[in-house]
Amino acid sequence: MKRIGVFTSGGDSPGMNACLRAVVRGALYYGVEVYGICRGYRGMIENDIHMMTSRDVSNIIQRGGTVLKTARSQRFMTKEGREKAYQNLKNLEIDGLIAIGGNGTLAGMQQFWEEHKMPFVGAPGTIDNDLNGTDYTIGFDTAINTALEAIDKIRDTADSLERGFFIEVMGRHCGDIALLTGIGGGAEIVMLPEIVDSLDEIVESIKEMLANKKTSLIVVVAEGDELGNAEELGKKVREQIPKFKFRVTNLGHIQRGGSPTAADRVLASQLGLGAVEGLLSGKTNVMVGQLKRKLTYTSIEDCLKPRAIDNDLVRMLRILST
Ligand code: F6P
Repeated sequence: MKRIGVFTSGGDSPGMNACLRAVVRGALYYGVEVYGICRGYRGMIENDIHMMTSRDVSNIIQRGGTVLKTARSQRFMTKEGREKAYQNLKNLEIDGLIAIGGNGTLAGMQQFWEEHKMPFVGAPGTIDNDLNGTDYTIGFDTAINTALEAIDKIRDTADSLERGFFIEVMGRHCGDIALLTGIGGGAEIVMLPEIVDSLDEIVESIKEMLANKKTSLIVVVAEGDELGNAEELGKKVREQIPKFKFRVTNLGHIQRGGSPTAADRVLASQLGLGAVEGLLSGKTNVMVGQLKRKLTYTSIEDCLKPRAIDNDLVRMLRILST
């Protein structure tokens, strides 16, 4: 392999830049040229592809977002779009790709591989932590620390005014952000998409906690929870417990930004270099990850299977939140 392409795609995550830096410098170390593809699949189709040097990735390890920009491309979902992308890569003699992104990005590459046999290795760049094949995705640690900081601040006002808060966090269909921030933030209740809750049970346990002399409450709601979003839940619970004041906060996109934590920078660097080394050693249609601190390569098909919630953590949260 003489020339590879790299891109970031889907929702940005803190640490994507650190991963890009590792890919570019790792490839150059092995004498392989690297082309940066701007705005993910959109840039691949629009031929927004440029050669990168080591200096292009200077001073980015600490920056959130992605200097390559990112996008969600509808055109790449069509056969015609993927054909155009392939022609552009072929014209530039790019013979392998590294895709930094989440499940949509990896599913796109799997399809591209099936149609055009373009070798690739994926690197898990998403705050959602919703992929198998890695204990943590790049950006998850930063996102939970950002959310935690916000929850701590909300806790101060909840405690002072003796209120309850429904706090919505991101994660799409995965409850990991909610679970970890709920544990770290000492939440009384965490609502996860992986666990079916009943509104009556939630109301009952809030009543019990209030009877048990709790004067403030934090309920962390994963955005994908099947009972609805924090706003809807807050409204329903208010109707049933009118004497206690509840407020709702949606933490939103602040969870996606900011300077990556040390853990994310190190993970991103390891996975970026690991992606290059995997691709150069002939691996394809896999995602590089880290399981129990060991670098691993897992088929995209397995990575995209639903990820189970950690039931030990759920159990611990329930015991400790009483
Ligand atoms: O996948 C990352 C993520 O932040 C999810 O947690 C969230 O559901 C989604 O992206 C939000 O996407 P957008 O920025 O397009 O609103």
